[in-house]
Amino acid sequence: MSFAVAIDGPAAAGKGTISRAVAAHFGLAHLDTGLLYRAVGAKVLEGAEAVEAAEELRAEDLKAGNLRTAEVAQAASKVAVIPEVRAALVDFQRAFARRDGGAVLDGRDIGTVICPDAEVKIFVTASPEVRAKRRFLELQAAAGVMSLDEVLADVLARDARDRDRATAPMKPAEGSLILDTSEMTIGEAVAAATKAIAARR
Ligand code: CDP
Repeated sequence: MSFAVAIDGPAAAGKGTISRAVAAHFGLAHLDTGLLYRAVGAKVLEGAEAVEAAEELRAEDLKAGNLRTAEVAQAASKVAVIPEVRAALVDFQRAFARRDGGAVLDGRDIGTVICPDAEVKIFVTASPEVRAKRRFLELQAAAGVMSLDEVLADVLARDARDRDRATAPMKPAEGSLILDTSEMTIGEAVAAATKAIAARR
């Protein structure tokens, strides 16, 4: 039986951490859809054409070592405004959402476009400053060289691009639980998401 959990929200809001935790808790498969756009962005940085890169994307492309960098994140949000890039990635995501055994997908348009009939929809957010701080610490752990101000600028630029694009703009889906994690620990945020999912299981 399928059971879809859609988790959307702005950059570095904690979607990935929450998604991985609830997927493990409920035994659901997890797809970080941001990785699809990051993989296409990485190919474009290497000189590929964006739509072609999206149409030819393969599973091993999602394992490239550089996908978590800020440079690739910016490239991802630039290819993500192209309708044909998004269209090329829809079928894979929809099939994943409805796979047997259930799935958690996190991204920007899961509850609005990819899986509007998801059993659970959560929009995870936090203030830009809190999100920049979290991402800064993550990047630092990976030996990143950006300052906190640079990370904040990166997050704000991507938020604006994701929110203002014409195709599949980032916004809370109808009926979604809004989870503002600004003042929450990871444990509290995971507990809130777990409770919302348990209520629908
Ligand atoms: O991890 P973080 O929240 O910083 O970003 P991500 O989820 O890996 O997504 C990277 C970029 O891909 C975003 O800034 C969006 O532009 C794009 N994206 C999208 O347009 N739609 C999705 N479903 C997922 C990501």
